[in-house]
Amino acid sequence: MNQDKNPSSKHQNQQIALDLLLKRKSHNRLGGQALTKEQLETLFQAAFRAPDHAQLKPWRYQVYSGQSLAKLGDYFIEASKAESETQLTSEQLEKIHNKALRAPTLIVAYLSPKEHPKVPHVEQVLSLGASIQNLLMAAHFLGVGAIWRSGKLCFNPHLAKLLGLKTHESLLGFIYLGEKEGTKRPVPEVEQSQLVSYID
Ligand SMILES: Cc1cc2nc3c(=O)[nH]c(=O)nc-3n(C[C@H](O)[C@H](O)[C@H](O)COP(=O)(O)O)c2cc1C
Repeated sequence: MNQDKNPSSKHQNQQIALDLLLKRKSHNRLGGQALTKEQLETLFQAAFRAPDHAQLKPWRYQVYSGQSLAKLGDYFIEASKAESETQLTSEQLEKIHNKALRAPTLIVAYLSPKEHPKVPHVEQVLSLGASIQNLLMAAHFLGVGAIWRSGKLCFNPHLAKLLGLKTHESLLGFIYLGEKEGTKRPVPEVEQSQLVSYID
């Protein structure tokens, strides 16, 4: 029998998918090799399956690995210096540079909103969030560790300029990816009753 038509194997597949979904968590200690082109293409296939009103594709991604991470770290320093009212110490500058080096692959996610009479800006922000979540979930399915980070650099206009953003675009996330390192943290339980109401 075709596996897809076999009810028990279909149920098993659903259970596997659901178990994976319910166990996703972020990993802040990441190492190992950069992701392969094939892995990255899978992540973006998932990202581009996000709900997207009117198919505007209000997302743009850049992938950094290898030498480009150090170059990105240099941009972080330049942009932070330009934004800071005081002179940054060498320790602060090193810390800023290291933000680019936390993982072997770093994906920068941009909102690239489009004008549309029926799709307000906020819906396009939500669509980018859904796209990033799909990407994180695909990484999790592949066994790749990931964490979505933001911080002041996301909103630094000098960095936006250095990265070539157009004036209507915004940087909304740094997605760090790599092999999971460090101790295992349990998936937190969430008490549903405070968050969900069932309306009869
Ligand atoms: C838009 C956005 C920005 C975030 N920025 C940071 C950040 O800068 N630093 C950080 O430690 N976590 C940040 N987080 C939270 C982590 O991605 C992660 O969700 C959190 O550590 C909880 O872990 P969990 O995903 O395993 O529940 C951000 C999450 C979102 C949605």
